[in-house]
Amino acid sequence: MRDLLPAHRPAFVLAPMQAITDLPFMRVLARRSSPDWFVTEYFRVHPASSLNRQLLRALVENPTQRPIFAQIIGSDLPSLCRAATALAAYPIAGIDLNLGCPAPIVCRKHAGGGLLRHPERLHRLLGGLREAIAGRFTVKSRTGFADSGEFDHLLDIFSRHALDGLTLHARTVQEGYHGPVHTACVRAAAATLACPVIANGNIVDAPTALAYHRQTAAAGLMIGRGAIRNPWIFSHLQAAFEARPHEIPTHRNLLEYIRELSAEIAGEALRYEPLGHVQRMKRTLGYISHGLAADFEPQIRRCRTPQEFEAICQAHLDHDAPLPLRPPGDSKLFSGFEALLGEDI
Ligand SMILES: Cc1cc2nc3c(=O)[nH]c(=O)nc-3n(C[C@H](O)[C@H](O)[C@H](O)COP(=O)(O)O)c2cc1C
Repeated sequence: MRDLLPAHRPAFVLAPMQAITDLPFMRVLARRSSPDWFVTEYFRVHPASSLNRQLLRALVENPTQRPIFAQIIGSDLPSLCRAATALAAYPIAGIDLNLGCPAPIVCRKHAGGGLLRHPERLHRLLGGLREAIAGRFTVKSRTGFADSGEFDHLLDIFSRHALDGLTLHARTVQEGYHGPVHTACVRAAAATLACPVIANGNIVDAPTALAYHRQTAAAGLMIGRGAIRNPWIFSHLQAAFEARPHEIPTHRNLLEYIRELSAEIAGEALRYEPLGHVQRMKRTLGYISHGLAADFEPQIRRCRTPQEFEAICQAHLDHDAPLPLRPPGDSKLFSGFEALLGEDI
């Protein structure tokens, strides 16, 4: 994966997010700023699974001109090898194994973050997959299941499998999305592993990205929810790492982004249904409206029709005031991000 890393700054990567980082989102994001590579939402893999066609479209139609990794999740080695082999027939940059999903139903099946509870099983799975995958094979993990003290042992396992990259959402599975990230684990991984390490969790703007990089020396930075909220973030990061100023988007820029995303999502729907469309937009707006005018978020939460949705967005966003790029310091949604800034606040 070293060949994908830019020479003079860390790589920027869009985090995979189920039901968000799909084709419409990729298109709309790439018109504003692009990461160095993308990762698909996960393909669920089990003995009876076939490759999800909707997800395959992201690989085939990739509207971004950037590489895409296909992410898989599962616990059955023969099925995972079968899926990886089938995916190799598509234009992918590599296969990424999900070791971080905290959903109880996934963990109970010893998949996603659940695999971190079974180091021996994980060791066998990584060995089998490494043998089966001729191209790049990367892993996206947490720092442990219940405790970051588990990370040393995990790091030892990762170091034994010639991985092409490790992304670390630097929280335990049980921590979910809450609290500060464990930057010491990322720093240890970056210092120990032969492959590039990508730091993930709580990057919301350029200062948090610079701080995370300074504290870990990671080869790359992965951004998820911060890119939903601010689709210009990758160009902001590029400017920051080149010590250049960047433009501050306005509320009206945000309105255009929301309208474009809404139109792309409606255009992709197999059967457009207004209430379903509004629910989908509300899920995305949860990350965007957070920290803007106090009554914007609750109004969006209550709205029922596309017309109401558009009217609320227009009433709040159709003006040229600059957007606040950082969420509120006490944000529950971006919990603990200020800890990254440490001495910088
Ligand atoms: C709605 C949502 C869906 C997600 N889906 C996936 C997924 O399919 N695969 C995965 O590895 N991580 C998934 N994640 C985790 C993100 O990739 C990322 O690790 C996490 O959000 C922390 O990064 P952030 O603070 O930049 O958002 C998801 C996160 C969210 C919020």
